[in-house]
Amino acid sequence: MCGIVGFCGKNNCADLLIEGLKKLEYRGYDSAGIALEVKNKITVLKAVGQVKNLENLVKKSGKNSYIGIAHTRWATHGKPSLVNSHPHTDCTGNIALVHNGIIENYLELKNILIRKGHKFKSETDTEVIAHLLEEELKKEKDFFNAFQKTTRKLKGAFALVALSSKFPGVMVAAKRQSPLVAGISKKGFFLASDIPAFLSHTNKAIFFEDGDTIKITQDSIEVYDADFHKTTRKIHTISWDISAAEKGGFEHFMLKEIHDEPQNVKDTLQTLPPDITKAFGLPLKEAKRIEGLYIVACGTAYHAALVARYVIEHFAKIPVEVEMASEFKYRPIHFKKNWLFVAVSQSGETADTLAALKNAKAHGLKILSVCNVIGSAIVRESDYSVFTHCGPEISVASTKAFTCQLTVLYALALQLAYVQNSITKAEFEDLYQEFLNLPELLKQTLKLESAVKKVAKKVYKSPSFIFIGRNASFPLALEGALKLKEISYKHAEGFAAGEIKHGPIAIIDKGIPVVALAPKSSLYEKMISSCQEVSARGARVIFVTNTPSKNALEVPYTNEYLFPLLAATILQFYAYFIANFLGREIDKPRNLAKSVTVE
Ligand code: G6P
Repeated sequence: MCGIVGFCGKNNCADLLIEGLKKLEYRGYDSAGIALEVKNKITVLKAVGQVKNLENLVKKSGKNSYIGIAHTRWATHGKPSLVNSHPHTDCTGNIALVHNGIIENYLELKNILIRKGHKFKSETDTEVIAHLLEEELKKEKDFFNAFQKTTRKLKGAFALVALSSKFPGVMVAAKRQSPLVAGISKKGFFLASDIPAFLSHTNKAIFFEDGDTIKITQDSIEVYDADFHKTTRKIHTISWDISAAEKGGFEHFMLKEIHDEPQNVKDTLQTLPPDITKAFGLPLKEAKRIEGLYIVACGTAYHAALVARYVIEHFAKIPVEVEMASEFKYRPIHFKKNWLFVAVSQSGETADTLAALKNAKAHGLKILSVCNVIGSAIVRESDYSVFTHCGPEISVASTKAFTCQLTVLYALALQLAYVQNSITKAEFEDLYQEFLNLPELLKQTLKLESAVKKVAKKVYKSPSFIFIGRNASFPLALEGALKLKEISYKHAEGFAAGEIKHGPIAIIDKGIPVVALAPKSSLYEKMISSCQEVSARGARVIFVTNTPSKNALEVPYTNEYLFPLLAATILQFYAYFIANFLGREIDKPRNLAKSVTVE
């Protein structure tokens, strides 16, 4: 999705804006642009394709300023092109504006503005806002007031940042549903879609509420709430290390992020309270009276939720319903009393998850979120939050966030199991001990990297890839297939191993690679049978287990419910190397956006 960076301060900012855009490249984009206020005029430069193209243009122009806005566009209204890329301007060229989100009533507004004589250059919904602001400024002398009135007329989701050459030194912004965060540095104020855009300059950040409008000058930042009353928003200190947003010598962010997992899981475990049975996200009273959980998420986070269902139902013995957020929000669900709603999201900004959460909240459910970003929209809407501590995840394909989500959800399962007396203290202690050993076990699992690479080399030319598993490893099969699809663009599907014989076996053909996820458990023999069924039809079985077995990828032994946390890295390596052998753009796969902030 689109990326926004704005700066207003004491330094020239062309470089800061370009650097910020580069840090947001992971969000996915097709063109980029910048607007700088130079000698009471707005200079707009745009380039299709990579930020590098824009960087060259800016360098060539020699333009610079202490105030500017920049944008990477992910096309929604109108094809990727120079004219459709942001910043957009009004008829006079005095106003420049960048936008992330979708303006639902843009056609209606556009027709009114055309009737008033406005000339449009692009097909975008965003350009309408620039002209609307121009129109407001005919009636209103103050730039910020006119901007606030403009936002009132917009329906839909937006993060907006605007400049006007008639009001030099002022940057205005608004947030409704799309992400926007400010960075407070010695050099000046940043506005951005995400923290990495300014993390190398400051770790002090302000997250805005929906409906906020913001006025920034060289020395001040003012925030107004949805009723346009002046308000204050907390300054958060971000604990992320800037090196987490760098490749650190790895060929791709994805590979680096897989290697980060032992440390990230360690960091996540270390933030659990000393006595997890008493306080872990949820107050003890709440944890004791929960009768069931709805866990809702999208994409990879949804697969983490599906794994968690097996783990929680097994240990805590309470029912769990898991649903994709994009479906949950439309279902006429008859919410059950004393059920907790759990939202799982790396970014904390996914629009579908946020909408599902709001629906549950409106029905009186208490909300627990499992997120990676402090201050994000989902966290702010939640009653309780637990954080994954994996720093910024840059690769579009989620890896370390998945493992950390599984870690937090496993901890939640153990806590609920203990406080609801589903396991004894002794059982809890044994399980917890094994759980705390996870970072070490993950380190050992990473040693299988070259073995996985060898396997990937043998199979990467296959047109189709299959993953099978049972119980808690079934959703892992889904995640393995999703990871591979995302970055290799190959057909990949995950199945419950027991279901193979009910239809999917029809597609098993000679040489098709089938990854079988088979931890030692009561279902181990059944997994072997499924492998025999597919290999009898010519499949090439790649056996992933935690017990000695011939020609297998063997991760360290744990109970079967911890197995997905280790085997996930095998599947991530597998997808990574197949995509790499195919020469794909691994960190920025086609058509995908890291953070999907529209429903
Ligand atoms: C997008 C990303 C996925 C991600 C999903 C949920 O679709 O491409 O990788 O899993 O959003 O994101 P979240 O930030 O809510 O975990």
